Amino acid sequence: MPNRGGQISAEVLLNFLRYGRRSIRVYKPAPVPDEMIEQLLEAGRWAPSASNRQPWRFIVIRDEAVRREVARHAGVFFIRWAHVEDAPLIIALLGDTGNRMYRAFLHEDVGLAGSQIMLQAAALGLGTCWLGGIDRKALAGVLQVPERVEIVGLLTVGFPAEEPEPPPRKPLAELVHYDVYGSRDVNAPASPGLVTVGWLRRIISRLRIRIRL
Ligand SMILES: Cc1cc2nc3c(=O)[nH]c(=O)nc-3n(C[C@H](O)[C@H](O)[C@H](O)COP(=O)(O)O)c2cc1C
Repeated sequence: MPNRGGQISAEVLLNFLRYGRRSIRVYKPAPVPDEMIEQLLEAGRWAPSASNRQPWRFIVIRDEAVRREVARHAGVFFIRWAHVEDAPLIIALLGDTGNRMYRAFLHEDVGLAGSQIMLQAAALGLGTCWLGGIDRKALAGVLQVPERVEIVGLLTVGFPAEEPEPPPRKPLAELVHYDVYGSRDVNAPASPGLVTVGWLRRIISRLRIRIRL
């Protein structure tokens, strides 16, 4: 396969994933240039999605009055995220729920697009912060989002005015199992567990044909 995108060294990429992106909650007032916004959207557009349905939609929120109103509803219960007011740009990450079968994958798809936007932003020297604790119903009103479209999250974007330390990550030993769940020893022999689904599913699984898209 031709390497159309060029190659980033694995070491550089891993270091970037570890330390190159941080959630930024203090921003400089300078606006984000249009060419940068375009790059962020382009990064989101190239995310993988279930059956390549690309259910993401983005609202680029630059207008001050709209941002102010979004900031008012960017919170849960009695908490309001202060940094939304300062961010010169907010990107609302939406998912089109129109297709019943693919609705199950909506959050993965939009999450991946959001992640790519955050990484591209970091590469451009921009800070971002994903906001999941938001009043989606109120925001749908503010942003005039139709019923079939879901607000998955908001991203605040701007030039960072802070350099936070990386929040700690759980050690791999706490996260990883080998071959089957519960097997913590990388060298331990493993065997598959029992399948507990009913007869119909068992028959269907035997009838499945192999396809490659
Ligand atoms: C799905 C999701 C929801 C989040 N919601 C919020 C939020 O509502 N408010 C906030 O300040 N940060 C929010 N964050 C940012 C996390 O707190 C942050 O990613 C985490 O502490 C790790 O820090 P890092 O991003 O600097 O690595 C959210 C992140 C994700 C992925």
